[in-house]
Amino acid sequence: MVNILLIGSGGRENALAWKMAQSPLCRNLFIAPGNPGTALCGTNVSLSINDFAGIGKFCLEKNIEMLVVGPEDPLVNGITDYFLSNNSLKKIPVIGPDKKGALLEGSKSFAKEFMQKYSIPTAAYHSFSKNETSEAKKFLSTFPSPYVIKADGLAAGKGVVIAQTKAEAENALDEMLVQSKFGEAGSKVVVEQFLEGIEISAFILTDGVAYKILPEAKDYKRIGENDTGPNTGGMGAVSPVPFANAALMKKVEEKIIIPTMRGLKEENIFYKGFIFFGLMIVANEPYVIEYNCRMGDPETEVVMPRIKTDLVELFFAIGEQKLSEAKFAIENYSAATVMLVSGGYPDKYEKGKMISGTEEANDVLLFHAGTSNNKEGKLITSGGRVMAVTSAGSDLKSCLEKCYHAAEKIKFDKMYYRKDIGRDVL
Ligand code: AMP
Ligand code: GLY
Repeated sequence: MVNILLIGSGGRENALAWKMAQSPLCRNLFIAPGNPGTALCGTNVSLSINDFAGIGKFCLEKNIEMLVVGPEDPLVNGITDYFLSNNSLKKIPVIGPDKKGALLEGSKSFAKEFMQKYSIPTAAYHSFSKNETSEAKKFLSTFPSPYVIKADGLAAGKGVVIAQTKAEAENALDEMLVQSKFGEAGSKVVVEQFLEGIEISAFILTDGVAYKILPEAKDYKRIGENDTGPNTGGMGAVSPVPFANAALMKKVEEKIIIPTMRGLKEENIFYKGFIFFGLMIVANEPYVIEYNCRMGDPETEVVMPRIKTDLVELFFAIGEQKLSEAKFAIENYSAATVMLVSGGYPDKYEKGKMISGTEEANDVLLFHAGTSNNKEGKLITSGGRVMAVTSAGSDLKSCLEKCYHAAEKIKFDKMYYRKDIGRDVL
């Protein structure tokens, strides 16, 4: 049995904590900083996700024997390298890639070059740096609208602009390259071809040599029903995705996963952790829209309930680079999650709203995202995405019914959720 520290505080981390806490190998689970949902799975620790020295000190004090990193930020900032380069911390296996591996998410131009080099299908592109704004604008004339403009670095999910007109695209280029709207993250941009298709999220867990393909998921990114309005972090998810049949997933493995693993090896990237492939399926062919060096949120909320195998056992196998010998099984059922969000999200919204009715929602899993406890210990909202109402069961339709039934019981001022999650795939 081991003590584990999980870094993060969203719905993803609540789902990971929920799954890890079920493991007979888990002695004490700590979550930094966690939320009221993760507090039901382990002990929250008030440490910031980028305070590597504080996290390291805590690990030594509490005899932590495994570090699991939920969000991309600390990975891109090098938490894994920090542990590997410290004599007393390097024996602790870290689930999450080092800085170089995290570049798959941390730099869009790095990811694009990587895909090109290893023949991984993706949208045609060109990258431009700060002094190349006019070249970037000229490049727009070489293909039809809409135009896809991406800030190179992490921009909290706001760094992608899909411009319908050339004027909008030029404006986005000016904002990123000239006005530094995203700071350093936008000092380089990727301009790429627009791919028209259906998006799915695919995931692997890897020790750098072997990999296990986790259940795929479909995320509902737009705020409005029928995929309208601005992009959000994700308003709900389902798994499995009915159209992601064995033939399509075989293509994903052969054309994307295997070449990605080969690329990591050839680039001497020792990758231990999750890889999230954001895919666009165009005419039955998968293309990589983006790599992420972590699990998705809210995808984790539907992927975790579908993994049969002990997650901590898999993490151990990764630490020892013995994933090829590890058993891995997926549950034969479906899962759905519906995100309850604060009114106004993804733009301005208020926090501190009293949440009621959670105790009545007792036949679903409630993964907390943006919640906290007020001084009186009452549950209040503290973020845009507040809670992921999740259900797992024999079929998607009944899972969704359960989620929506439970969502009706939960209340907070200006609460909003999409009522059409999963409708397109039923
Ligand atoms: P990303 O932050 O890279 O996930 O991009 C945000 C969203 O923009 C994606 O989920 C897609 O819906 C969309 N997107 C990104 N790149 C493209 C592309 N090349 N073609 C069409 N849509 C895209
Ligand atoms: N749900 C998309 C993401 O986690 O990036």
